[in-house]
Amino acid sequence: MIKSSQHTCKNGEVITIRIASTKDADSLNALKRSYINTSDYIPLTAKEYKYDVAGESEMLSVVDLHQNSLVLLAENENGLIGNADLTGYQRKAMHHVAMLGMGMDIAWRNQGIGSFLLERVIVWAKQSPLQIICLDVYDENTAAKALYLKYGFISYGIVPGYFRHGNQSYNLNRMMLAL
Ligand SMILES: CC(C)(COP(=O)(O)OP(=O)(O)OC[C@H]1O[C@@H](n2cnc3c(N)ncnc32)[C@H](O)[C@@H]1OP(=O)(O)O)[C@@H](O)C(=O)NCCC(=O)NCCS
Repeated sequence: MIKSSQHTCKNGEVITIRIASTKDADSLNALKRSYINTSDYIPLTAKEYKYDVAGESEMLSVVDLHQNSLVLLAENENGLIGNADLTGYQRKAMHHVAMLGMGMDIAWRNQGIGSFLLERVIVWAKQSPLQIICLDVYDENTAAKALYLKYGFISYGIVPGYFRHGNQSYNLNRMMLAL
């Protein structure tokens, strides 16, 4: 369990990072749908995103039951601006592994909030049963890769042409952090 924490962004604004609860379902769903629509490097359209608000709420209550899963939120006084999720595998053989996903409202990128979130995720993960955090990132997503490399993630392989947007192909980079 980690307490909520306050952080000063590059623009001087103070934001809070805290663990999500089912009360956040509505605003978390809206946040994800907005950054899915404004990122070139998420292999999903807002239409394809599987959760409505009820589904998001159900997901948050399931995460709460899993010792190897977490949803962390970044917010200011106007509402949510970013999130980072650890989805731990529930199979016995992979219970020590979680997949990381994260995103930021477009107006709040490059303000250091991704770094604050990832720092807190790693603190939490080190106190959990997790030993490995994995993630899949577009190899062309230089901003996200810079963030992951800064926190010690290592690339374990590239799958060429894994993603396609129209005629354009992108490569998948599988990265991991040993805790
Ligand atoms: C990827 C993302 C979560 C990063 O969050 P963020 O709040 O913008 O990250 P930060 O501001 O903490 O920046 C992290 C580092 O990347 C660096 N960076 C940013 N853009 C960069 C670029 N194009 N090339 C190289 N480095 C870059 C920043 O300078 C910063 O390093 P520093 O702290 O040493 O200055 C955010 O950009 C985002 O939501 N993107 C859209 C969704 C997405 O791609 N999610 C990830 C899917 S795997």
